[in-house]
Amino acid sequence: MSELRTITIDEVAQHSDEESCWIIIHGKVYDVTKFLEEHPGGAEVITQMAGLDSTAEFDDVGHSKDAMEMAKEYLIGQLPEDEVAEVKALVPPTPAQPVAKPSAMKEFLTSSTFANIWIPTTMGIGIYVFYKCVLKSQAVSVY
Ligand code: HEM
Repeated sequence: MSELRTITIDEVAQHSDEESCWIIIHGKVYDVTKFLEEHPGGAEVITQMAGLDSTAEFDDVGHSKDAMEMAKEYLIGQLPEDEVAEVKALVPPTPAQPVAKPSAMKEFLTSSTFANIWIPTTMGIGIYVFYKCVLKSQAVSVY
């Protein structure tokens, strides 16, 4: 396969409508102008990304292997190395999912200490207080 032409982000940006529609996916540049009408997801989703990096959008759809193969037909070039890094910095492929740390309260409420000790103890105190109140009211009614 012949060397891919190096195409800058600025050059891609000049092809930003349905007359000439270039998109960037994973650092590669695709001229999808002729593909717009054929695109199973519709022309509009792509024209919205015309002239831009649409890696995240492309990946989010979960395009099939066939779609990836199909894309090769429209490949016209690749971004210079430094611009690939730039695009990645702008749109992190998968932003690191912060491991949601449960709050101290949530951690306590879901802990076995809470379930095994605090729930029965609280229930016991509740029942004790309840009976005390009942006995007290009975004592009042007797006298
Ligand atoms: C060269 C570029 C592209 C090719 C060859 C392509 C190809 C395809 C193909 C073959 C499908 C049918 C489903 C599948 O086989 O995955 C599809 C669906 C779709 N594509 Fe693309 N696509 C491209 C770019 C894009 C871009 C840049 C976007 C978004 C900005 C996009 C959004 C969608 C959506 C929303 C669907 C519909 C998914 C569904 O109905 O479940 N595509 N595309």
